[in-house]
Amino acid sequence: MQKLIFGNWKMNLSAADAVKLAKKTSAFALDASRIKVGVFPSFPALERVAFALKGSAIILGGQDCFWASSGAFTGEISPSQLKESGCTHVLIGHSERRQNFNETDEMVNRKMRAALAAGLTPIMCVGETDNDRRNGQWSNVIAGQTAKGLAGVEVSGGQEIVIAYEPVWAIGTGRACAPEDARKAHALIMNTVIELFAPSVAKNNFRIIYGGSVDAGNIGSYLFQEGIDGALVGGASQRGDAFAAVVAAAQK
Ligand code: PGA
Repeated sequence: MQKLIFGNWKMNLSAADAVKLAKKTSAFALDASRIKVGVFPSFPALERVAFALKGSAIILGGQDCFWASSGAFTGEISPSQLKESGCTHVLIGHSERRQNFNETDEMVNRKMRAALAAGLTPIMCVGETDNDRRNGQWSNVIAGQTAKGLAGVEVSGGQEIVIAYEPVWAIGTGRACAPEDARKAHALIMNTVIELFAPSVAKNNFRIIYGGSVDAGNIGSYLFQEGIDGALVGGASQRGDAFAAVVAAAQK
């Protein structure tokens, strides 16, 4: 199965720089049978990046969306507006949103259901903090976020749901999670998904990717693990040479 390598550009890059990076990304040599690459620029760059990616196999996604489809929600972006801007994917519940903007599991769940209803592929982020891990709570936190985020979600046909396991302490810190620990977390997430959906749905419709200080040097050690279907890459996706190296290493 294809590995997913998604670049989260966060609130970085001007629209012009995002277009340049998108053009570089669209020139990467990709073995389509082995890898699928996506980029997640900030909202004002989406349409220009979509235009720059036209004709390439690179996926475009938003970094967040709101749950209502329209209305008096100043500053928010609906799933259908993301689609209109060229997106097929959307990040939901990134830990930076949970921590800085008080996003709760309930909000994540509403966003998940709205994104799926609009036909977007959501990438739902879950992960424990340093404190959770020290207190022996990592598994409860991960399983809880997964189950609450997916509550009431219905999966039909070939709809894909991606879950990104991103330990909060590993994001942007250079302290990547030990691949064996990531494998255990992925197995736990998969078991949680199996409890909520039929095992065949869990296997066919869900992908689980790792995020947190992924770079060209360590990506191979994650993709090698059973149950790790790809990576969500922050810092190392925001420079063309670094992202090219990650993507090249992911295809080795
Ligand atoms: P990082 O970010 O690769 O810079 O740790 C990952 C993310 O926030 O998705």
